[in-house]
Amino acid sequence: MSHHGLFISFEGIDGAGKSTHIDSLANAFRSEGQVVTLTREPGGTFLAEKLRSLVLEQAMDPLTESLLIFAARRDHVVRVIAPALLRGEVVLCDRFSDATFAYQGAGRGFDLDVLATLERWVQADEGLLGDPAGNQPMKPEVETVIEPDLTIWFDLPPEDAALRLAGSRIPDRFESQPVEFFRRVAQGYAERQRDHVERIAQIDASQARDVVWQCVLQTVVEKGWLQATAQS
Ligand code: TYD
Repeated sequence: MSHHGLFISFEGIDGAGKSTHIDSLANAFRSEGQVVTLTREPGGTFLAEKLRSLVLEQAMDPLTESLLIFAARRDHVVRVIAPALLRGEVVLCDRFSDATFAYQGAGRGFDLDVLATLERWVQADEGLLGDPAGNQPMKPEVETVIEPDLTIWFDLPPEDAALRLAGSRIPDRFESQPVEFFRRVAQGYAERQRDHVERIAQIDASQARDVVWQCVLQTVVEKGWLQATAQS
C-alpha cells in the first residue's frame, strides 16, 4: 500500500506513562494543521473494543489470547489505520504489534515464530482496503506489512512501573501480573528494539514527565515531521 500518511505507535509496560504524551503529540500535530487519528490496541473499532474487553477480563490460554489480539488488530488495520494513512492522516496508536511480541511472546512465552506468521497475515498490506465486509479473497502470499513508521518505546524498570500502578485503579488481567511478568515483557521490548533499531526509539521513562515529553517531541522533530517550535 503506498500512502502519504504517518503511522506512529507507542509502547511500554503497564505504568510506563505513555497516555499523556500521546495526547500531547496529537495536539502538536493538530496545531500544525495535520489531521490526527488517535487510536489504541487492542481496540479502535466496535469489534476490536469488544475483543479488548474479553482479552482484558477473561482467563484464556496464550494462543487464544494471541488470536483474539490479532483478530482485533486485523479489524483495526482494515477499517481505521489503513484508510487514515491513505487519506494522508497522522495515525497515533497506543500500542501495536510490538506489544504482542513483548506481552504474549516474552511475557506469556508464546512462540515468536507463530506471532511473526500471524503478523504477516494480519498486517499484509494488499487487499486491505478492498472490502472490509470480507467478500473479496485475501492474498496470503503478500510479503509487505503495514507497520509503524516510528515506535516510541517508554522504557521504565518494572519495579518503578509497579509503584506507579499501585492503588491507581482496579487492575485488569495484565496489570495484576507479578513484577516477574513485567521483567520478561520489558526484556521482550528490549529485544524487539535491538531487532528494529531504525524504527523503535527508546525513551527513558523514569525521567520527570516534562523531560520525557521533550524527548518524545525531539524524536518526532528530528524525523522532520514537526517543527522544532511545537508545544504540547
Ligand atoms: P493499555 O495501553 O495498558 O491500556 P490501559 O492504559 O487502558 O490499561 O493496554 C491494555 C493491555 O493490553 C496492556 O496491559 C497490554 C495488553 N496488550 C497485550 O497483551 N498485547 C497486545 O498486543 C496489546 C496491543 C496489548
